[in-house]
Parts: sequence; structure tokens; C-alpha cells
Amino acid sequence: MAFYIAGTGSALPEKVVTNDDLAEFLETSDEWIYTRTGIHKRHVLTHEKLNDLAILSAKRALEDANVEGEEVDLILCATMRGDTITPSLACSVGEAIGSHAPAFDVNAACVGALYCMEIADSFIETGRAETVLIVSAEAMSKLLDWQDRSSCVLFGDGSGAFVVKKGHGRLSGVLSTNPDTHVIRMPNIEGINSPYNQHEQEKLAMQMDGGEVYKFAVNAMGHNIEEACRLAGLTPSDIDWFLPHQANARIIEASRKKFNIDRKKVLLNISEYGNMSATSVVVLLDEYARKGTFKKGDKLLFVAFGGGLTSGAVIIEWNKD
Ligand code: ACO
Repeated sequence: MAFYIAGTGSALPEKVVTNDDLAEFLETSDEWIYTRTGIHKRHVLTHEKLNDLAILSAKRALEDANVEGEEVDLILCATMRGDTITPSLACSVGEAIGSHAPAFDVNAACVGALYCMEIADSFIETGRAETVLIVSAEAMSKLLDWQDRSSCVLFGDGSGAFVVKKGHGRLSGVLSTNPDTHVIRMPNIEGINSPYNQHEQEKLAMQMDGGEVYKFAVNAMGHNIEEACRLAGLTPSDIDWFLPHQANARIIEASRKKFNIDRKKVLLNISEYGNMSATSVVVLLDEYARKGTFKKGDKLLFVAFGGGLTSGAVIIEWNKD
């Protein structure tokens, strides 16, 4: 019950890369990518830094919530890797908005924004915060091997943000992991000129077993939807809007069919942005909030899965002023 969403924002890189653009340097096609994933295009960082996008989306969310930087009690950033390992992306956002609140990054891959919501809920429930700024920002283009057609066509870059405030809104949340260190893997740098390190540098690019992720994703989405509904005393048919992680339209469609959910209730933007990891559900939230899709009292269910393997779902009642 601890919080409601008070404002949203997002920011995307200027450069748009279509499937046809990728087919100019990869053995692939718009037909293959679109029919297998639902993706037509994605935004990719060129001259911008991820920090710039994160700060812009944060400022847009604060403006939408009518909250000043110094009113924020906690800043959480969902990201797999910011521009710098330290300072964290959250600290860069804090500096830009003039906040001295505690700030840290959360890496739960594509489920990061949901993990942040649950952390915010705990801070608010225990009286340590009343207003929390949650930012998600991912530079997927910098984690990929652009010659690996089985992964680089799937992702895009972007940032989203939202402000949560103490009050009635969150109805339930469930987070989990199925620990697996192989199915999705993005190695870190092993060190520079160390005379002690005895490990070979792993390839610095995302490696993914797409088929295994697919199977995990379909199960995890179903399980988390059921569990979040059970905790809220609801059934999937009581949910007004589903905001699923935008990894693959076929995975989303499988979950929709499992629960016989009306297609109109399942929000999608994967065709425009690809998979932006933790950012996907936040940009989706901002887009549909700004279109006026959500009415007071509507029940929104966020559900996501990702590297780790992490998964989760959060149900929110829309009570934005
Ligand atoms: N263009 C053309 N052909 C391709 C491409 C491409 N971009 N990529 C792979 N292929 C080929 C493969 O080499 C294979 O060829 P082969 O049959 O000659 O060996 C063929 O296409 C079929 O490949 P599959 O892997 O069987 O294709 P599938 O239908 O399973 O789709 C996909 C692959 C899209 C990756 C799917 O498995 C998927 O979406 N998995 C989930 C991935 C996911 O959700 N990742 C994100 C989670 S992690 C995170 O978000 C951080």
C-alpha cells in the first residue's frame, strides 16, 4: 500500500536504426527479425551519453510529478552498466537534480525497475522515505557484439523514470531469481596490467542462449502474474493494463493466451524500441500515461524477466493526480 506513481518521464537517443539498416552489415532481414520478435526498429546511442538520457528522463518525471530535486528522499537507478562504474548513474542523476538523497544503482537486468519499486516500497513502509525517484537507463548497444546477429538485433537504448510517493497505489509485488550464470551472460573487465589476475578475459559482449531464455521467460511471466494477483487478492481478469517486459512479442503473446487476456489490455511498444532491458516497462508506462490511457483506479500489472535469471511482477492502482 506504500506508494502511488506521481509522475513519469522518458528520453531516447536520436538515432533510429531499422531492421533494414542492420541488414546492410549483417546477414539478416526485416522479415526474420519482425516475425521472430515483433521488432521493426530501435534507438541507439551515438553522440549522447547514457547519463544525459537518465538525467533528462528524471527531470521530465519530476516535472510531471511537480516535485523538486531537493524533495526526493531516495534515488534508485535500474541499469546493468552506467557510463561509469563509480560514480553510479544514480549519483549522476542526484548531482543534476540538486539532491543529497541516498542514491544507488540496482542491477537486476531487465527486471531492475520492478526491483526498484520493491526497494522504494520498503523505504516508504519503514518511514525512511516519502518520495522516491526511480530511473532506468540502459546502453544495450555498448554491451553487444554487433557481428552477432542472434543478439544484436534484439536490443535498443533508452531511459525512463518515475516518481513514487507515499500513499495508496501498490497492491502487491513479487520478485524472484532462478540462478543461472550461463543462459544470459555479460562479462566484466578483468583488470588492467595486473600481475596477479590469473583469469583470461572473457569476451566483452552479451552472450545469450535465446531458446533457453524463451522457455524461462514464458514460465516466469505466467508464474509471476499468478503470484502477484494472488497476493493482491485479484485474478488476471481484474487487471486493466498489462505492462510486460518488451523482449519478444511472441513471449508476450504466449502469456496473453495462457490467461486469456484481452489483446487490448496488453501494452506494447517493442516494434519501435526493441528490448531496452530495465527501461522497457518504464518507457511503456510513460508513453501510455502521457496518452491518457490510465484512469484513476485502474489496475496496472508490470511483469518482467531477465539475466540472472531474475523475474517479478508488481501491481499498482493508478492514483496519479
Ligand atoms: N537473422 C537471420 N537469421 C538469424 C538471426 C538473424 N538476426 N539470428 C539467428 N538466425 C538464424 C539462426 O542462426 C538459426 O539458423 P539455423 O537454423 O540455420 O541454425 C535460425 O535463425 C533460427 O534460430 P533460432 O534461434 O531457432 O530462432 P528462434 O525462432 O528461436 O528466435 C530468438 C530466436 C528471437 C532469439 C528467440 O529465441 C528469443 O526471442 N529468445 C528470447 C530472448 C530474450 O528474450 N532475450 C532477452 C532477455 S535478457 C535481457 O533482456 C537482458
